Formats: sequence, structure tokens, C-alpha cells
Amino acid sequence: MSFTTESEKQQFYIDKCREIIRSREAALGRKLTACVVTFGCQMNFKDSEKLMGILSEIGYEETEDEHADLVLYNTCTVRENANLKIYGRLGYLSKIKEKNPEMIIGLCGCMMQEPQVVEKLNKSYRFVDIIFGTHNVFLLAELLYERLISGHKVEDIWEGTTEIVEDLPSVRKYSFKSGVNIMYGCNNFCSYCIVPYVRGRERSRNPKDIIEEIRELVNNGVVEVMLLGQNVNSYGKTLEPQVSFAELLKKIEEIDGLQRIRFMTSHPKDLSDELIEVIAQSKKICKQMHLPLQSGSSRLLKVMNRHYTKEQYLLLVEKLRKAIPDIGITTDIIVGFPGETEEDFLETLDVVKKVRYDSAFTFIYSKRSGTPAAKMDHQVPEEIVKDRFDRLLSAINQISKEKTALLEGTTQEVLIEEVNKKIDGYVSGRLSNNSVVHLKGSKDDIGKIVNVYLKEAKGFYYMGEMVEER
Ligand code: 5AD
Ligand code: SF4
Repeated sequence: MSFTTESEKQQFYIDKCREIIRSREAALGRKLTACVVTFGCQMNFKDSEKLMGILSEIGYEETEDEHADLVLYNTCTVRENANLKIYGRLGYLSKIKEKNPEMIIGLCGCMMQEPQVVEKLNKSYRFVDIIFGTHNVFLLAELLYERLISGHKVEDIWEGTTEIVEDLPSVRKYSFKSGVNIMYGCNNFCSYCIVPYVRGRERSRNPKDIIEEIRELVNNGVVEVMLLGQNVNSYGKTLEPQVSFAELLKKIEEIDGLQRIRFMTSHPKDLSDELIEVIAQSKKICKQMHLPLQSGSSRLLKVMNRHYTKEQYLLLVEKLRKAIPDIGITTDIIVGFPGETEEDFLETLDVVKKVRYDSAFTFIYSKRSGTPAAKMDHQVPEEIVKDRFDRLLSAINQISKEKTALLEGTTQEVLIEEVNKKIDGYVSGRLSNNSVVHLKGSKDDIGKIVNVYLKEAKGFYYMGEMVEER
């Protein structure tokens, strides 16, 4: 068989799998079901939509119930807890498989890129049928076909890739918003982080492919896109000719029918004045910036290999706020990095108090083997880390509440995202700055952008009233 493109080859395997699945369905007298469970970040969620897209084309019916004919875990390994969670859930899956020996269990994603994980799975979790990694998500149909035909376990992990495969099927969790990959991998090697090892080197997608994908999404009802990359600010550096992230944004802005543009994640070291200018001028780019700080101590930032100081970070925030006064700023912070002293921690608290983040994700440092930080001395004792973590969280929560209260009594544009599961007759949506608001409405409002009066700030969210449709 010869194919001109990878997607053509994969389509061939999708068709082959579909024949097998159809005959199984006929024998069983029912549809076969597939459940994809995602752990970790937005990148993984996006990959899962591609994985489910392939499985749907093969003929599997999507389910959220893990008592399915095929269960695929898309794993995360950024912190050790994520790994432990997978091993625990696998124990539970094996019990389900005992009752349904035909069941296929697959594992993919970041954790599979670690050789010691795969070794452990092969030794102690032999009921797993398919294992693949982050670089060959597009191969699912081919790997599944091999498993269906041979009855044997299939394992295919690539160490890296330069390939970007376009034009594969994908399903979308939401009809009106979608993540869009603009780049893959990371070249930054922050000393605590395993991502560059499991996601490989930075690769940017062609602007033409990105624009085409967004146009197609908009034709299908999407009004908001989230541009995804580990470090979107370095988008395009590997392209020939080079294209900056700011230039890409300007092109995306021109797409008719698209109403909101978000992106993540921005690395402070690469955030250009050009980008700030583009955001300030834009009607579509949401006034929100996720700007991971990690630590407020210049000393630790150096050891973390972050390439900015506390002062540079604060200046950047000042510049952002000057150009875009209503911008919502969020962050990631790690507590308990090796060698973190009370003074270092106080520097972090100081940045939190100066920046006044709208919200922040806080993480306890987790040792990832293979990263430079794992070999560093002076791991911080657990009780000290816990104490710092609690102090940090209470400062962040207090500030978040105060910041939320500032918009109480104003009217803001809100994209209605879902029916509220807790309050009957209510829906929930997001402001441009990403804050959540609950208001009266029905499922017919989902996907609409409406003006909402923020009647009451309730800690981290609002209760609002629809003023009128825009
Ligand atoms: N320990 C704790 N947090 C980590 N992160 C990345 N690696 C680690 C680690 N080893 C956090 C960073 C990053 C976020 C996605 O996860 O804050 O921004
Ligand atoms: Fe990890 Fe740093 Fe890359 Fe973010 S920028 S994925 S923290 S190495």
C-alpha cells in the first residue's frame, strides 16, 4: 500500500477498523462504546478530541462510562500525583476487564514517554492492550488495527518527532468554542519541568493550516478559540519564513464570524511589546493573560532557568496594565522548590500582593526524575511546604475576592457556555477576563454573547442578569 500523506494512511486504517467493529457489532447485536478519559492540561484535552474523533469514525459510540468496550486514558505526568492517579484507576479498570475480557484498554499521553513507566506497566499491568505516546496520537487507528488483528499487546512510543499531521478527524466537546493547537513541544527546560522531555522540541504549525482550521470551526458555529501552546510567545520561530505570534493573532482577528480569541500559555521572557500592542488594539482578543510566575525570588528564578527576575516580571505586568487597564492576569506558582528559603517565599508573596492576580494556580513542588531539579540538594521539608502553601493560598484567595468585587454593579459581555448543573433554570458563562457568571437562561442561550449585569460578586464568581442580546 502506498499513501501520499499520513492522514491518507490513517484514513485507510480507520476504514479497516470500521469493518472489524461492524462485524463485532453484528455478532453482539449492539453498538460498541469507547471512553476517552483525559488527565492534565488543555493540550491533552485537545489531543483527546482528536482521539475520540478517530474512534467515532471507526464506529465507536462515545460514552463517559468506563464500563466500555474500549477505554483510553490520556495521561499527564507533570506532577507525581498525576502518575499515582493513573495507577490507581488502572486497578479499577482491571476489575471491569475481568468481566468483559474483550475490552480494550489503551494508555497514551505524557506519562508513556517515560521509559520507567512503560517498564512498570509491562511488568505489573499486563492487561493494558495499547500503549503509545505524545508524538504519535495520529496513529491510533493503525495501532488499534494491529491490536484487533493480532490479539497481542501493541506498544509504540516515539522519542521525538518533527512531524505535524494535519487533516485528521476530531470531535468537539463544545459546539461554540474550541482549542486550536498552534505549536507543540517546549524548548525552555525550566529545571523542575518534565514537559520538554515528554512533549519534545518546539514545532509551530503553519499559519495557513491554523487559519484554515479556525475558518472551518467558525463555519461550524464556533465563536471562541483558545490558541494552545506551551509557550505561545515563541510561536513561529521555527517556521520559514518566521512569523511572530503577534502577526498570527492579527491574521486570526480578521476571520469573520469569530468573536473571541484566547491563548495560553505565555512565558514572561518572550512577551513582546508588539504582542501587548496587538492585544490592546484588538476587538476580539480577550482581556486575559495567563502569565506563570513560578517564584517571586530572582535567585530561585535563576535556578529554575526561567530567564527573568522579579523586577522584570513586575515591570512586564506594569506595562500590560498600562496598555490594557482592564486585563485579567492569572498565574502558576510553585511552592517548595529545592532550596526555597523563607526569604524566597516572602518574595513570592510580595509579587502576589503587588500584582494582585485575578486568580492563581498554586502547586507544591513535585520531584520529576530526569529533570535537573530532581538532583538538587535541600529539598524543603513537607511541613514547611504545607505551611507556605496555605499562606500563599489565603493571600491569593483574599485578593481574588477583592478583584472580583470590583466589577460588581457593571454590565459586561458574557459568552454563555453551559446549563448550570446546580441551579435549575440557570446558565453559566464567562466574561472576557475569564471570570464566571451564573444567570437565568436556558440551553438555547448556549454559544450566544450577551450583555449581563453583574448583580452580585460571590467570592470568585458573579450572579448576574441578562440585559439584552447583543
Ligand atoms: N512540580 C510542581 N509544579 C510543576 N509545574 C510544572 N512542573 C512542576 C513540578 N515538577 C507547574 C508549573 C507549570 C504548571 C503547568 O505546572 O507551575 O506552569
Ligand atoms: Fe515546562 Fe517551562 Fe516549558 Fe512551561 S515553559 S512547559 S514550565 S519547561
